[in-house]
Amino acid sequence: MPAKIISGKEVAASIREELKERAARLKEKGIVPGLGVILVGEDPASVSYVTAKAKGAEEVGIFEETVHLPADSSEEEIIKTVDRLNQDPRFHGVLVQLPLPKWVNPDKVINFISPEKDVDGFHPINVGKLLRGEPCPLPCTPYGVQQMLVRSGYSPEGKHVVICGRSNIVGKPLAALLIQKKPGANATVTICHTGTRDLKRHTLQADILVAAMGAPKAITADMVREGCVVIDVGVNRVPDPNSPKGFRLVGDCDFEAIKEKAEAITPVPGGVGPMTVTMLLMNTIEAAERTLQG
Ligand code: GUN
Repeated sequence: MPAKIISGKEVAASIREELKERAARLKEKGIVPGLGVILVGEDPASVSYVTAKAKGAEEVGIFEETVHLPADSSEEEIIKTVDRLNQDPRFHGVLVQLPLPKWVNPDKVINFISPEKDVDGFHPINVGKLLRGEPCPLPCTPYGVQQMLVRSGYSPEGKHVVICGRSNIVGKPLAALLIQKKPGANATVTICHTGTRDLKRHTLQADILVAAMGAPKAITADMVREGCVVIDVGVNRVPDPNSPKGFRLVGDCDFEAIKEKAEAITPVPGGVGPMTVTMLLMNTIEAAERTLQG
């Protein structure tokens, strides 16, 4: 039987309905949740992500402002802007869209984001809290993957999750999140990466397989066990002369072949992407709600 298609778009839409209500309750108490975004340069993928974040914010009732800095901005100029948004009480969440120009150290910039406003969950304090299982803003893509699994009836609890990719944005924080002894987590996790020998031997052990490698068709059907749940985090632009934009988006999985074998799979686009944006909105609302708790 072909796999169930897990629609991130649908799961995200239902979470956004919940967020609209939470934003409305905050407004009754005189608080408009606010998100400040810093975008440097014109990288087309970054511009498109930031546009999706601004649109999502407006939809749920979050005030959003993007500070668009020129492509030749210095590290100091970017840090000054971070500091200005940190100090501005209209913003409960602040994020710097990555990647940054090659002369800028992204870790140094992230270190300047106020940990309380760090809605990406990238600040070292929040990374440490995540690993220790303490309350903190959860990085948006891992949080979105977890919520999509739980809300589609595929909770990772007690399952073997194999993650392909060890980035600081997806692979490492997703592993940290799913090994916690908490509802919606409590999984056995394997992380595979470019140093892994015989990748297929590991992927075939997965109850849940997460592809976050950043390469089209890196995961093929022979690497997937019958009945596996496959989450495709990849977003790759491949040339397509039939598309008006000249490209189309594909994930890291050979979707057509794997859907004949897997229990369930997420599409690209319409899978993890809308969830990532939605969890950013969730983190912003949560940051605003925390200001009420003092
Ligand atoms: N670039 C790619 N993914 C992300 C993300 O989750 N947050 C930010 N700030 N930049 C990104």
